[in-house]
Amino acid sequence: MRVIIADSPEAVARMGAEQCIRLLQDKPAAVLGLATGSTPIALYAHLIQRRQQGEVSFRQVRTFNLDEYIGIAPQHPQSYRSFMQKQLFDHIDILPENTHIPSGMGDPMAESRAYEDKIHSAGGIDLQILGLGRNGHIGFNEPTSSLSSRTRAKTLTQETIRDNSRFFSADEEQPHLAITMGIGTILDARKVMLLAAGAAKADAVKAMVEGPISAMHPASALQMHPSTLVIVDTEAASKLELIDYYRWVQSETLRVQGAYL
Ligand code: F6R
Repeated sequence: MRVIIADSPEAVARMGAEQCIRLLQDKPAAVLGLATGSTPIALYAHLIQRRQQGEVSFRQVRTFNLDEYIGIAPQHPQSYRSFMQKQLFDHIDILPENTHIPSGMGDPMAESRAYEDKIHSAGGIDLQILGLGRNGHIGFNEPTSSLSSRTRAKTLTQETIRDNSRFFSADEEQPHLAITMGIGTILDARKVMLLAAGAAKADAVKAMVEGPISAMHPASALQMHPSTLVIVDTEAASKLELIDYYRWVQSETLRVQGAYL
């Protein structure tokens, strides 16, 4: 796991976008794994801007999102499909048929199997972008999820439901179930990049990077992945015991490579 500590949430987004752009410049037909939630919004804004400046194209890119609520149609304003259209897809040159999000309608078991098959047929995910739940979830793999789980339906914790209630108005019914890529599915990606910002994520970041690998903290499974980049701001990094070491590695990397990433 490589830990990069950025000065601000904005710098986290900029560095994250830089990683995606480098990948797309090297491999224009890359397969990206995408996340929703607040954290990647600024990263997506950077990608849109860089597309508008003609620095990157998504014409050949295929995407697979981590998750979707069960029981919510794609057109629903709170669906993750709507989120992705609004925050990214509607503003870049990606082909609609190349964007994949699990369907929250229909039979979740059949949909989960079909989603795994689609990822496999696309040749696997080159770079999986992740946010981090305060309880350590990645995707909607809540604590005690199997560390080798595949795409399936999960029941959200009360904490996650509360955290995400900010996206729903009082009169809207908030789903309690979701289809999510499993931890095993995420670990199959060739590269993983997790972004986290803010003091509310500091405990989860500490457990992910320095805690024991445990199903109680699903993100800790990333310690087993050979190429995970964790980009955090100073607040999210504030509880890391080896923070001075990570900063030292960062400055050495800059000295040797001329760039952090
Ligand atoms: C989103 C997802 C979740 C979020 C996590 C953090 O597709 O799967 O794991 O990444 O809940 O959410 P934010 O970024 O809103 O703090």
